[in-house]
Amino acid sequence: MSGELSPIDKAKFVAAKRAAEFVEDGMRVGLGTGSTAAWLVRCLGDMVEKDGLKIKGVPTSRRTAELARNVGIDVISLDEARWLDLTIDGADEFDRELTLIKGGGGALLQEKIVATASDQMIVIADVGKQVERLGAFPLPVEIIPFGWQTTRALIEETLVSLDVLGRETTLRMNGSVPYVTDEGNHILDLHLGRIGNARQMGQIMNQIPGVVENGLFIDICDKVVVGYGDGKVEIRDINAGTVELDRLDFMEEDNLFTDLMS
Ligand code: A5P
Repeated sequence: MSGELSPIDKAKFVAAKRAAEFVEDGMRVGLGTGSTAAWLVRCLGDMVEKDGLKIKGVPTSRRTAELARNVGIDVISLDEARWLDLTIDGADEFDRELTLIKGGGGALLQEKIVATASDQMIVIADVGKQVERLGAFPLPVEIIPFGWQTTRALIEETLVSLDVLGRETTLRMNGSVPYVTDEGNHILDLHLGRIGNARQMGQIMNQIPGVVENGLFIDICDKVVVGYGDGKVEIRDINAGTVELDRLDFMEEDNLFTDLMS
C-alpha cells in the first residue's frame, strides 16, 4: 500500500511518525492542522489503540478535532487543558531560525494560540518546506469580515514601507464565496515573494485594525522534524543546536495506509 504514496506524502508520514515518538503518556498535546498534521493524528491514534498511549489532545481546527475523535484520541478544549506539554503541527515554510509561515490550511489563529500555550512546539514538514528566506509562500493574514476591504487597503498601504519584493494581496476564496475560518473570519494572502524582516512584519501587521493574527510564527517553534521521500528524517533542535539523523521504514501492513487507500 505504501508504494502508492507519493514521495511528498512519504516524507510527511515519516516526519509525523518520528515526531510522534516525542509524545509520552499523560501528556496534553496540541494537534495541528493540515495534511502533515493529519498523519501525526493518525499515528497517535494508532499508538492509543495499539500501545495504550494515554493523552489528551487539543485540536487546532474542527477538522482536526473530527479526525482525532475518529482515531480514538481523547479530545479536550484549550480551556480545559489551559496549558500543554507539546504541540506538533505542520508548516508552509520554515527557515534556519525555525521561523515559520503557517495558515495555508486556514487554521493559523487557533494554531498560534495552541502552540504559544505549549511548553514545546515541534514542526513536522517535508523537506520542500525548508527555505533560505521566508516569503515565497503567500503570508496568510486573518482579518475580520467587517470592513475587510478597508483592512486590506490599510495592509497594502503598510506594505509599501516594508522590506518585501511583492505587494499583491488576495482574499482567500472557497469557490465563489470568501473563505471563512473556524472563528468566522476571512484570510488575506499576501504575495510578498521575500520577507526581509519577519519580526517587523509580524508586529506591524498585528497593529492594523481589523487584523486578527498573521501567519508568521516567531520564537515559537523549538524543533523541526524534516521528512524525506526515502524515509530519512532530520531532527533539528534550535535550543540545543543539534541535528540528529534517523531513518524510518514504511510498514506495508500499517493500517494507517490501508485506511486511507481503501
Ligand atoms: C494550517 O492552517 C497550516 O498552518 C498548515 O499547518 C500548513 O498549511 C501545512 O499544511 P500541510 O501539512 O498540508 O502542508
